[in-house]
Amino acid sequence: MKTMKFGKSDLEVPVIGLGCMRLTELERWDIPKYIWHCISLGVNFFDHADIYGGGECERLFGESLKEIGIPRDQIILQSKCGIVPRIMYDLSYENIIRCVDGTLKRLDTDYLDILLLHRPDALMEPEEVAKAFDELEQKGKVRYFGVSNHKPSQMELLKTCVKQELHTDQLQFSIPFSNIISTGMEANMHTDGAIDRGGDVLNYCRLNNITIQAWSPFQSGKGAFVDNNDGYPDLNWALGEISAKYNVTKSTIAAAWILRHPARMQTIVGTMNYYRMLEIARAADIELTRDEWYRLYLSSGHILP
Ligand SMILES: NC(=O)c1ccc[n+]([C@@H]2O[C@H](COP(=O)([O-])OP(=O)(O)OC[C@H]3O[C@@H](n4cnc5c(N)ncnc54)[C@H](OP(=O)(O)O)[C@@H]3O)[C@@H](O)[C@H]2O)c1
Repeated sequence: MKTMKFGKSDLEVPVIGLGCMRLTELERWDIPKYIWHCISLGVNFFDHADIYGGGECERLFGESLKEIGIPRDQIILQSKCGIVPRIMYDLSYENIIRCVDGTLKRLDTDYLDILLLHRPDALMEPEEVAKAFDELEQKGKVRYFGVSNHKPSQMELLKTCVKQELHTDQLQFSIPFSNIISTGMEANMHTDGAIDRGGDVLNYCRLNNITIQAWSPFQSGKGAFVDNNDGYPDLNWALGEISAKYNVTKSTIAAAWILRHPARMQTIVGTMNYYRMLEIARAADIELTRDEWYRLYLSSGHILP
């Protein structure tokens, strides 16, 4: 599995990570096997959040890791904090500390490699986040920090107090869900794609060496787009032709499309299917041509103005 530098750090991460949001879809006995399957493919990066499965995803993962018996330093564990489902976002000092302590307990580990702020909280005080990050770092509970679903200005606001680097911004991104790209390519136009929903986050991350982690890489925003001919017939036609050329599946090519972007994104996939994970992992070895990359972009409904 190809690896990449994580943000400005020296940490090497695989270009494909497993998102554990859907872990409870597996039978209990299958979870350690699936984790081992991923690790054997080089996918030793696992993305969690305290809220996934109401905490069950982290708990089951922690139990399963013990069963596998893999040394802790052979895997990279990331989790997120700050969402209180259906009630509020809470990036207060107390809640960040409480969330991380809960996560460490459920994962049955002494430290997280990476902690992300899950979503921007309207009542966030940068001083409180800074106090929490300092404490978590000093106590050895978190090694690296980042954010998710944040705009550049929100990262800048955090940086007025937070002294740790923000190494990543985890953002929803896929071939059809790619406003962070279309907003740049349709700059200066009256088209829908020109609307900037992320504050030019793509260029901000590139300029500041922040790794974009692409979440939901196979979702369009209205469900999975691969093999969904009702919603994306042209895209599936193009995926079919290109996947035949490389002798892989459409999922491989959809992931390769993300990895081809020069921002050097990391792809966080959510499949709980052994075969799909095997095929997706093959994306790390494929470099799409410029023609192929644009063909997929345009066949998903984007335009070149
Ligand atoms: N930061 C955030 O706000 C945020 C939000 C959501 C998710 N995430 C992270 O991103 C991770 C991935 O999210 P996701 O699960 O929505 O991503 P995804 O990889 O785009 O979607 C995976 C889901 O799509 C299904 N699927 C159907 N056809 C597929 C195909 N051809 N190829 C691949 N998958 C196909 C999978 O089913 P099978 O299991 O049957 O393959 C699975 O249920 C999550 O686990 C989580 O860690 C972060």
